[in-house]
Amino acid sequence: MPLFSRRRFLASAAAVAAASALPLAGRARAQAIATHRLAARPARVTLIGPPHPDTEVWAYNGTTPGPVLRVRQGDRLRVEVANALEADTTVHWHGIRLPHAMDGVPHLTQPPIRPGESFVYEFECADAGTFWYHPHAESAEQLGRGLYGALIVEEREPVPVDRDLTWVLSDWRLDPTGAIVDNFGDLHDASHDGRLGNTVTINGRIPETFAVRAGERLRLRLINVANARIFALDFADHAPAIVALDGHPVAPHAPPEGRIVLGPGMRADIVLDCNGRPGSRATVADRFPRADVYRVVDLVYAEAPAVERAQPLAPVALPANPVAEPDLGHAVRHAFTFGGGMMGTLRTAQLDGRRVDMRTLMQNGFAWAVNGAVERGHAHKPLVTLKRNASTIFEFVNDTAWWHPIHLHGHTFRVVSQNGRPTRHREWRDTVLLPPRERAEVAFVADNPGDWMLHCHVLEHQASGMSSVIRVA
Ligand code: C2O
Ligand code: CU
Repeated sequence: MPLFSRRRFLASAAAVAAASALPLAGRARAQAIATHRLAARPARVTLIGPPHPDTEVWAYNGTTPGPVLRVRQGDRLRVEVANALEADTTVHWHGIRLPHAMDGVPHLTQPPIRPGESFVYEFECADAGTFWYHPHAESAEQLGRGLYGALIVEEREPVPVDRDLTWVLSDWRLDPTGAIVDNFGDLHDASHDGRLGNTVTINGRIPETFAVRAGERLRLRLINVANARIFALDFADHAPAIVALDGHPVAPHAPPEGRIVLGPGMRADIVLDCNGRPGSRATVADRFPRADVYRVVDLVYAEAPAVERAQPLAPVALPANPVAEPDLGHAVRHAFTFGGGMMGTLRTAQLDGRRVDMRTLMQNGFAWAVNGAVERGHAHKPLVTLKRNASTIFEFVNDTAWWHPIHLHGHTFRVVSQNGRPTRHREWRDTVLLPPRERAEVAFVADNPGDWMLHCHVLEHQASGMSSVIRVA
């Protein structure tokens, strides 16, 4: 049998052509198509370095993270994905507002890509910003083994910085030989913090140092691809400005308490002015309160004299993306209560049409519920149905003792309040981080028809019940 079945490949390509026949009238500039190929397959990579052996991972095109896909805003991206794993897979384009058929959720938006088969994704990238891609089949295992990559949509006008860099932040659970610990699906992980690892990497390596030059200005795109780890990055004596969150521009501001907080799935673009002295060093640390503080990487300044500038640097403000503004005065409201986990108050939940106790839930591999119900897999009855173009407010209530980054597919929302207080920046996001026992309100226009996942991006929580579907009809 050929590795990649041509029949399947052609069938999915035809489906793409039908789904992506968008009118082209009125475009200022001819739309370009960026074409890429991704092959998901096992690989051996150097995560730690000698004397430790290389690590067996699953990777796109042999590297973890996979290749950085770059496209200009308004262009189309076409990616032919080949599955050379021994498991079904898909690719989800996290944060991109795209047609339902391209969203990469097995059974909900497409059949899974079987081993040896391929699927072609093609969609327009309407929003500039920092996005990423990853499987949506057995996500906890497939991401935990290294399948993910950055997707950068460049602004139409270049942003004035000296270097534009991406840090894909990941977290691995490795044994002493450097091999991935093979206990995916562990119910203790699922009912607590998720699969926390013991090895943090930036762009697939344990970073020792990161070279900078005095006076240079960096745009640093931070992407948290970890299954479960929440980062709270502190850049020592530097004063980073957050200029975008989850890809979307935000009024430039200093991170609260000096820490850039990223739950799984979340991104932040920061502008970092390297104001240290030539030859000096500064430590970037993770100070997320629930874990030990540790050094992520050291910024190491070159001995070269500071960059000379004709004019002082002005603040960077990114142009807004074309996201529809919700009408808060006439919005429909829905509440989602996330319950369960250890030390929670969830006693019973609805499973397969029956009310069962927590113990029975756990015996079935579940630890969480949304509005008191647990659903299996990806395709199921929507929890709410929204009229197309309805302004909508979702209230997310975290009725648990754990942190949850709640992610919505197909849309971008404004975070309008957190724990009852209006947010200062009303930031656009696709994922909102809920601390234990807190709540948040998000608002958006339900302008993308289809059935969309709404789930926790701690992948072990998602797999064990913290997942549901909403419909835009
Ligand atoms: Cu980043 Cu439903 O996914
Ligand atoms: Cu969660």
